[in-house]
Amino acid sequence: MPTYPIAGKTIFITGAAGGIGAATARTLHSRGANVVLADWGIDATSALARELAGDRTLALPVDVTDTVALAEAVDRTADRFGGLDVVFANAGIGADPPATIATIEEATFERVVEVDLLGVWRTVRAALPHVIAARGHVLVTASVYAYFNGMANAPYAMSKAGVEQFGRALHAELGIHGASAGVLYPGWVHTPIAGPAFGSHDITTRMREIAFPSLLGKAITPARVADAVARGIENRSARVMVPRRWVPFSALRGVLNPVTDLIAERHPELRQLLRRLEESAGATGKSRQTDTPR
Ligand SMILES: NC(=O)c1ccc[n+]([C@@H]2O[C@H](COP(=O)([O-])OP(=O)(O)OC[C@H]3O[C@@H](n4cnc5c(N)ncnc54)[C@H](O)[C@@H]3O)[C@@H](O)[C@H]2O)c1
Repeated sequence: MPTYPIAGKTIFITGAAGGIGAATARTLHSRGANVVLADWGIDATSALARELAGDRTLALPVDVTDTVALAEAVDRTADRFGGLDVVFANAGIGADPPATIATIEEATFERVVEVDLLGVWRTVRAALPHVIAARGHVLVTASVYAYFNGMANAPYAMSKAGVEQFGRALHAELGIHGASAGVLYPGWVHTPIAGPAFGSHDITTRMREIAFPSLLGKAITPARVADAVARGIENRSARVMVPRRWVPFSALRGVLNPVTDLIAERHPELRQLLRRLEESAGATGKSRQTDTPR
Protein backbone atom coordinates (compact mmCIF):
# COMPACT_ATOMS: atom_id res chain seq x y z
CA MET A 1 0.00 0.00 0.00
CA PRO A 2 1.36 3.46 -0.87
CA THR A 3 2.17 5.63 2.13
CA TYR A 4 1.05 8.79 0.29
CA PRO A 5 -1.75 8.05 -2.23
CA ILE A 6 -1.90 10.31 -5.28
CA ALA A 7 -5.67 10.47 -5.75
CA GLY A 8 -7.07 13.84 -4.75
CA LYS A 9 -3.65 15.50 -4.41
CA THR A 10 -2.87 18.76 -6.25
CA ILE A 11 0.43 18.39 -8.09
CA PHE A 12 2.27 21.36 -9.63
CA ILE A 13 4.49 20.23 -12.52
CA THR A 14 7.04 22.47 -14.26
CA GLY A 15 8.24 21.55 -17.74
CA ALA A 16 4.78 20.03 -18.17
CA ALA A 17 4.84 20.60 -21.93
CA GLY A 18 7.94 18.44 -22.31
CA GLY A 19 8.46 14.71 -22.62
CA ILE A 20 8.82 13.74 -18.96
CA GLY A 21 6.54 16.47 -17.58
CA ALA A 22 3.66 15.71 -19.95
CA ALA A 23 3.96 11.93 -19.48
CA THR A 24 3.97 12.43 -15.72
CA ALA A 25 0.93 14.71 -15.88
CA ARG A 26 -0.98 12.02 -17.83
CA THR A 27 0.00 9.30 -15.33
CA LEU A 28 -0.80 11.34 -12.22
CA HIS A 29 -4.07 12.59 -13.70
CA SER A 30 -5.10 9.02 -14.54
CA ARG A 31 -4.52 8.15 -10.87
CA GLY A 32 -6.86 10.87 -9.67
CA ALA A 33 -4.60 13.87 -9.04
CA ASN A 34 -5.34 17.50 -9.90
CA VAL A 35 -2.48 18.45 -12.22
CA VAL A 36 -1.15 21.97 -12.73
CA LEU A 37 0.68 22.16 -16.05
CA ALA A 38 3.31 24.90 -15.69
CA ASP A 39 5.57 25.63 -18.64
CA TRP A 40 6.48 28.58 -20.79
CA GLY A 41 5.05 26.60 -23.73
CA ILE A 42 1.42 27.48 -22.94
CA ASP A 43 0.07 26.23 -26.31
CA ALA A 44 1.36 22.74 -25.57
CA THR A 45 0.12 22.68 -21.97
CA SER A 46 -3.31 24.02 -23.02
CA ALA A 47 -3.52 21.20 -25.58
CA LEU A 48 -2.56 18.70 -22.89
CA ALA A 49 -5.20 20.13 -20.54
CA ARG A 50 -7.81 19.67 -23.30
CA GLU A 51 -6.62 16.10 -23.89
CA LEU A 52 -6.94 15.26 -20.19
CA ALA A 53 -10.32 17.05 -20.04
CA GLY A 54 -12.47 17.37 -16.93
CA ASP A 55 -11.91 19.87 -14.15
CA ARG A 56 -8.74 18.43 -12.63
CA THR A 57 -6.25 20.29 -14.84
CA LEU A 58 -4.94 23.85 -14.94
CA ALA A 59 -2.49 25.07 -17.60
CA LEU A 60 -0.40 28.09 -16.60
CA PRO A 61 2.27 30.05 -18.53
CA VAL A 62 5.33 30.08 -16.28
CA ASP A 63 9.02 30.79 -16.81
CA VAL A 64 10.72 29.04 -13.89
CA THR A 65 13.37 31.76 -13.70
CA ASP A 66 10.67 34.36 -13.01
CA THR A 67 9.84 34.52 -9.28
CA VAL A 68 6.83 36.79 -9.81
CA ALA A 69 5.27 34.48 -12.40
CA LEU A 70 5.90 31.49 -10.11
CA ALA A 71 4.25 33.22 -7.12
CA GLU A 72 1.21 34.07 -9.28
CA ALA A 73 1.00 30.50 -10.58
CA VAL A 74 1.10 29.09 -7.07
CA ASP A 75 -1.62 31.55 -5.95
CA ARG A 76 -3.81 30.57 -8.92
CA THR A 77 -3.27 26.89 -8.09
CA ALA A 78 -4.30 27.40 -4.47
CA ASP A 79 -7.36 29.47 -5.52
CA ARG A 80 -8.47 26.80 -7.97
CA PHE A 81 -7.82 23.63 -5.96
CA GLY A 82 -7.78 24.93 -2.37
CA GLY A 83 -4.07 24.22 -1.84
CA LEU A 84 -1.05 22.51 -3.30
CA ASP A 85 0.28 19.17 -2.05
CA VAL A 86 3.15 18.20 -4.33
CA VAL A 87 5.59 20.18 -6.49
CA PHE A 88 7.54 18.45 -9.25
CA ALA A 89 10.32 20.92 -10.23
CA ASN A 90 11.21 19.39 -13.55
CA ALA A 91 11.69 22.09 -16.24
CA GLY A 92 15.12 21.98 -17.82
CA ILE A 93 17.23 22.90 -20.85
CA GLY A 94 20.59 21.85 -22.24
CA ALA A 95 23.24 24.04 -23.85
CA ASP A 96 22.44 24.53 -27.52
CA PRO A 97 24.72 24.06 -29.35
CA PRO A 98 26.76 21.80 -27.04
CA ALA A 99 30.20 23.23 -26.28
CA THR A 100 33.19 22.94 -24.00
CA ILE A 101 33.74 25.32 -21.09
CA ALA A 102 36.47 27.08 -23.08
CA THR A 103 34.20 27.87 -26.01
CA ILE A 104 30.62 28.09 -24.72
CA GLU A 105 28.85 31.44 -24.99
CA GLU A 106 28.72 33.11 -21.58
CA ALA A 107 24.97 33.78 -21.88
CA THR A 108 24.27 30.16 -22.86
CA PHE A 109 26.20 28.77 -19.90
CA GLU A 110 24.49 31.07 -17.43
CA ARG A 111 20.99 30.52 -18.86
CA VAL A 112 21.34 26.75 -18.41
CA VAL A 113 22.32 27.24 -14.77
CA GLU A 114 19.53 29.76 -14.27
CA VAL A 115 16.83 27.41 -15.59
CA ASP A 116 18.17 24.05 -14.39
CA LEU A 117 19.42 25.03 -10.93
CA LEU A 118 17.94 28.39 -9.93
CA GLY A 119 14.66 27.50 -11.66
CA VAL A 120 14.32 24.51 -9.34
CA TRP A 121 15.10 26.61 -6.27
CA ARG A 122 12.66 29.35 -7.30
CA THR A 123 9.88 26.85 -8.09
CA VAL A 124 10.27 25.05 -4.79
CA ARG A 125 10.55 28.29 -2.82
CA ALA A 126 7.27 29.55 -4.29
CA ALA A 127 5.41 26.32 -3.55
CA LEU A 128 6.97 25.35 -0.23
CA PRO A 129 4.62 27.12 2.22
CA HIS A 130 1.69 25.21 0.69
CA VAL A 131 3.59 21.91 0.58
CA ILE A 132 4.54 22.26 4.25
CA ALA A 133 0.99 23.21 5.24
CA ALA A 134 -0.27 20.10 3.40
CA ARG A 135 2.53 17.84 4.75
CA GLY A 136 3.15 17.09 1.11
CA HIS A 137 6.09 16.15 -1.09
CA VAL A 138 8.68 17.86 -3.32
CA LEU A 139 10.36 16.07 -6.22
CA VAL A 140 13.24 17.74 -8.08
CA THR A 141 14.58 16.49 -11.40
CA ALA A 142 18.33 15.89 -11.42
CA SER A 143 19.92 13.37 -13.81
CA VAL A 144 22.65 10.75 -13.89
CA TYR A 145 24.70 13.81 -14.86
CA ALA A 146 24.57 14.70 -11.14
CA TYR A 147 27.48 12.26 -10.78
CA PHE A 148 28.55 11.30 -14.35
CA ASN A 149 31.33 13.35 -15.99
CA GLY A 150 29.74 16.38 -17.70
CA MET A 151 32.25 16.87 -20.53
CA ALA A 152 30.73 18.97 -23.35
CA ASN A 153 27.73 19.49 -21.06
CA ALA A 154 29.21 21.29 -18.04
CA PRO A 155 26.52 23.87 -17.12
CA TYR A 156 23.92 21.10 -17.27
CA ALA A 157 25.95 18.63 -15.18
CA MET A 158 26.91 21.23 -12.55
CA SER A 159 23.27 22.27 -12.27
CA LYS A 160 22.11 18.67 -11.85
CA ALA A 161 24.76 18.05 -9.17
CA GLY A 162 23.42 21.17 -7.43
CA VAL A 163 19.84 19.95 -7.74
CA GLU A 164 20.85 16.68 -6.10
CA GLN A 165 22.36 18.51 -3.12
CA PHE A 166 19.33 20.79 -2.92
CA GLY A 167 16.97 17.79 -2.84
CA ARG A 168 19.01 15.94 -0.23
CA ALA A 169 19.08 18.95 2.10
CA LEU A 170 15.37 19.53 1.58
CA HIS A 171 14.62 15.88 2.37
CA ALA A 172 16.37 16.22 5.73
CA GLU A 173 14.83 19.61 6.52
CA LEU A 174 11.22 18.83 5.60
CA GLY A 175 11.10 15.88 7.98
CA ILE A 176 10.49 18.23 10.91
CA HIS A 177 7.30 19.45 9.19
CA GLY A 178 5.92 16.02 8.34
CA ALA A 179 6.58 16.74 4.64
CA SER A 180 9.16 15.06 2.39
CA ALA A 181 11.37 15.54 -0.67
CA GLY A 182 13.06 13.37 -3.25
CA VAL A 183 15.48 13.56 -6.17
CA LEU A 184 14.68 12.08 -9.59
CA TYR A 185 17.65 10.71 -11.55
CA PRO A 186 16.60 9.75 -15.08
CA GLY A 187 19.12 8.10 -17.38
CA TRP A 188 18.68 8.85 -21.11
CA VAL A 189 15.07 9.49 -22.08
CA HIS A 190 13.63 9.97 -25.60
CA THR A 191 12.68 13.68 -25.41
CA PRO A 192 13.79 16.84 -27.28
CA ILE A 193 16.40 17.75 -24.64
CA ALA A 194 18.30 14.53 -25.45
CA GLY A 195 18.28 15.28 -29.21
CA PRO A 196 21.96 16.35 -29.47
CA ALA A 197 23.02 12.97 -28.04
CA PHE A 198 20.66 11.05 -30.34
CA GLY A 199 21.36 12.28 -33.85
CA SER A 200 20.75 16.04 -34.05
CA HIS A 201 24.45 16.76 -33.31
CA ASP A 202 26.95 14.28 -34.74
CA ILE A 203 29.83 15.00 -32.32
CA THR A 204 27.84 14.67 -29.08
CA THR A 205 25.96 11.67 -30.47
CA ARG A 206 29.28 9.87 -30.99
CA MET A 207 30.45 11.02 -27.53
CA ARG A 208 27.39 9.40 -25.96
CA GLU A 209 28.06 6.16 -27.82
CA ILE A 210 31.61 6.04 -26.40
CA ALA A 211 31.03 7.40 -22.89
CA PHE A 212 27.79 5.47 -22.22
CA PRO A 213 28.48 1.97 -23.55
CA SER A 214 25.83 -0.68 -24.11
CA LEU A 215 22.60 -0.39 -22.11
CA LEU A 216 23.65 2.80 -20.28
CA GLY A 217 23.45 4.74 -23.54
CA LYS A 218 19.98 3.48 -24.43
CA ALA A 219 17.07 5.85 -23.99
CA ILE A 220 13.83 4.87 -22.27
CA THR A 221 10.35 6.31 -22.81
CA PRO A 222 9.00 9.30 -20.85
CA ALA A 223 6.08 7.07 -19.79
CA ARG A 224 8.50 4.81 -17.95
CA VAL A 225 9.92 7.79 -16.08
CA ALA A 226 6.36 8.90 -15.27
CA ASP A 227 5.59 5.53 -13.65
CA ALA A 228 8.72 5.82 -11.53
CA VAL A 229 7.77 9.39 -10.55
CA ALA A 230 4.30 8.27 -9.47
CA ARG A 231 5.79 5.47 -7.34
CA GLY A 232 8.34 7.91 -5.91
CA ILE A 233 5.61 10.33 -4.83
CA GLU A 234 3.39 7.56 -3.44
CA ASN A 235 6.26 6.26 -1.32
CA ARG A 236 7.80 9.65 -0.52
CA SER A 237 11.06 8.21 -1.91
CA ALA A 238 14.25 10.18 -1.27
CA ARG A 239 15.74 8.88 -4.55
CA VAL A 240 13.99 7.84 -7.76
CA MET A 241 16.42 6.20 -10.21
CA VAL A 242 15.13 5.20 -13.61
CA PRO A 243 16.06 2.95 -15.33
CA ARG A 244 17.23 0.86 -12.40
CA ARG A 245 20.44 -0.17 -14.20
CA TRP A 246 21.91 3.14 -12.98
CA VAL A 247 21.52 2.19 -9.29
CA PRO A 248 24.93 0.45 -8.94
CA PHE A 249 26.69 3.35 -10.71
CA SER A 250 25.23 5.82 -8.25
CA ALA A 251 26.00 3.56 -5.29
CA LEU A 252 29.61 3.01 -6.41
CA ARG A 253 30.27 6.53 -7.69
CA GLY A 254 33.15 7.13 -5.24
CA VAL A 255 35.04 4.26 -6.87
CA LEU A 256 33.80 4.58 -10.44
CA ASN A 257 34.03 8.37 -10.91
CA PRO A 258 37.86 8.48 -10.85
CA VAL A 259 37.96 5.62 -13.37
CA THR A 260 35.42 7.15 -15.77
CA ASP A 261 37.07 10.58 -15.39
CA LEU A 262 40.38 9.01 -16.43
CA ILE A 263 38.74 7.38 -19.45
CA ALA A 264 37.08 10.70 -20.36
CA GLU A 265 40.47 12.44 -20.23
CA ARG A 266 42.55 9.81 -22.05
CA HIS A 267 40.26 8.15 -24.61
CA PRO A 268 41.79 9.01 -28.03
CA GLU A 269 38.51 9.33 -29.92
CA LEU A 270 36.87 11.42 -27.16
CA ARG A 271 39.86 13.78 -27.26
CA GLN A 272 39.53 14.08 -31.02
CA LEU A 273 35.78 14.75 -30.73
CA LEU A 274 36.41 17.45 -28.11
CA ARG A 275 38.89 19.12 -30.47
CA ARG A 276 36.34 19.03 -33.28
CA LEU A 277 33.69 20.50 -30.96
CA GLU A 278 36.02 23.37 -30.05
CA GLU A 279 36.97 23.97 -33.69
CA SER A 280 33.29 24.14 -34.66
CA ALA A 281 32.67 26.73 -31.90
CA GLY A 282 35.88 28.74 -32.52
CA ALA A 283 34.45 31.34 -34.88
CA THR A 284 31.44 32.06 -32.65
CA GLY A 285 33.59 32.41 -29.55
CA LYS A 286 35.98 34.91 -31.17
CA SER A 287 33.21 37.14 -32.51
CA ARG A 288 31.48 37.11 -29.10
CA GLN A 289 34.63 38.29 -27.39
CA THR A 290 35.05 41.29 -29.70
CA ASP A 291 31.36 42.20 -29.12
CA THR A 292 31.47 41.93 -25.34
CA PRO A 293 33.40 44.52 -23.31
CA ARG A 294 35.15 43.00 -20.31
N1 LIG B 1 15.62 13.45 -21.61
C1 LIG B 1 16.65 13.01 -20.90
O1 LIG B 1 17.48 12.20 -21.39
C2 LIG B 1 16.84 13.47 -19.47
C3 LIG B 1 17.71 12.77 -18.65
C4 LIG B 1 17.90 13.19 -17.34
C5 LIG B 1 17.21 14.29 -16.86
N2 LIG B 1 16.35 14.95 -17.69
C6 LIG B 1 15.68 16.12 -17.13
O2 LIG B 1 14.28 15.93 -17.19
C7 LIG B 1 13.62 17.21 -17.17
C8 LIG B 1 12.56 17.24 -18.24
O3 LIG B 1 13.19 17.18 -19.50
P1 LIG B 1 12.60 16.37 -20.74
O4 LIG B 1 13.50 15.22 -20.96
O5 LIG B 1 11.15 16.14 -20.57
O6 LIG B 1 12.92 17.42 -21.91
P2 LIG B 1 11.94 18.34 -22.77
O7 LIG B 1 12.83 19.23 -23.54
O8 LIG B 1 10.97 17.47 -23.49
O9 LIG B 1 11.13 19.16 -21.67
C9 LIG B 1 11.63 20.26 -20.97
C10 LIG B 1 10.47 21.20 -20.71
O10 LIG B 1 10.93 22.27 -19.89
C11 LIG B 1 10.33 23.46 -20.38
N3 LIG B 1 11.13 24.62 -20.01
C12 LIG B 1 12.40 24.91 -20.39
N4 LIG B 1 12.78 26.08 -19.86
C13 LIG B 1 11.74 26.54 -19.13
C14 LIG B 1 11.53 27.70 -18.36
N5 LIG B 1 12.48 28.63 -18.22
N6 LIG B 1 10.34 27.84 -17.74
C15 LIG B 1 9.37 26.92 -17.87
N7 LIG B 1 9.49 25.79 -18.61
C16 LIG B 1 10.68 25.62 -19.23
C17 LIG B 1 10.29 23.29 -21.89
O11 LIG B 1 9.34 24.17 -22.49
C18 LIG B 1 9.91 21.83 -22.01
O12 LIG B 1 8.51 21.67 -22.05
C19 LIG B 1 14.73 18.25 -17.37
O13 LIG B 1 15.07 18.82 -16.12
C20 LIG B 1 15.89 17.43 -17.88
O14 LIG B 1 17.12 18.00 -17.58
C21 LIG B 1 16.14 14.56 -18.98
